[in-house]
Amino acid sequence: MRTKLVVGNWKLNGSLAGNEALLKAVQAGVSAAKDRICAVCVPYPYLAQVGSLLRGTAIAWGSQDVSRHEKGAFTGEVSGAMVAELGARFAIVGHSERRSMFGETDSIVAEKFAAARKAGLTPIFCVGETLAEREAGVTESVLARQMDALLSKQGAAALEGAVVAYEPVWAIGTGKTATSAQAEEAHAFIRARIAAQDAGVAGRLPILYGGSVKGSNAAELFAMPNVDGGLVGGASLAADDFIAIWRAAV
Ligand code: G3P
Repeated sequence: MRTKLVVGNWKLNGSLAGNEALLKAVQAGVSAAKDRICAVCVPYPYLAQVGSLLRGTAIAWGSQDVSRHEKGAFTGEVSGAMVAELGARFAIVGHSERRSMFGETDSIVAEKFAAARKAGLTPIFCVGETLAEREAGVTESVLARQMDALLSKQGAAALEGAVVAYEPVWAIGTGKTATSAQAEEAHAFIRARIAAQDAGVAGRLPILYGGSVKGSNAAELFAMPNVDGGLVGGASLAADDFIAIWRAAV
């Protein structure tokens, strides 16, 4: 049995007062569970606040990105060590918004993955195809290219203890969720790609689905054998919906 995870990605949202109210409400509905993890990935400036609100609770926290550099003259960057020092457990790397809007290439994402691991964080490595790529029938080759950027240099062993998130770009923030069959197909492909190098690592790896996950569709998605939970954007900003998604991850 793989651990199930429900991770909120707040994206560019939050305020000191709003975060506190949201997390109080989420905490009321989330309890500690052995094989089910709940986490929120928040903007960097809120890591310390969220850490002090969540320390000792059933909810873990993380960042939405991390620098590929460890230290030095990189104005505006935030290192994995800084994030880890604030008690964070997770760091999202390679989100499609970072790839498409901030020029992050497959190899930059792979470097960020390595930097997060080196800092002791659990990277959540995001992959996914655009609508044009799906319509052109190249979904699997896009996923293979994105995964291979990691597998070819760092090997499948680098994924031990990490997390992968499949986020079809056309389903992000659009209200258009992948069907459970589409998600399962992509997740099975990703797992098989890793299994070709190391079946043990592939079998243990949680693969999350992201893209318009809601309380109303989570159970069906999470029932798929290769879907181990969700990376949740919009719905993670509404406590009731986020709790419903967490409850669906059984
Ligand atoms: O990382 C989560 C994400 O990109 C999905 O966003 O708003 O479609 O749940 P949303």
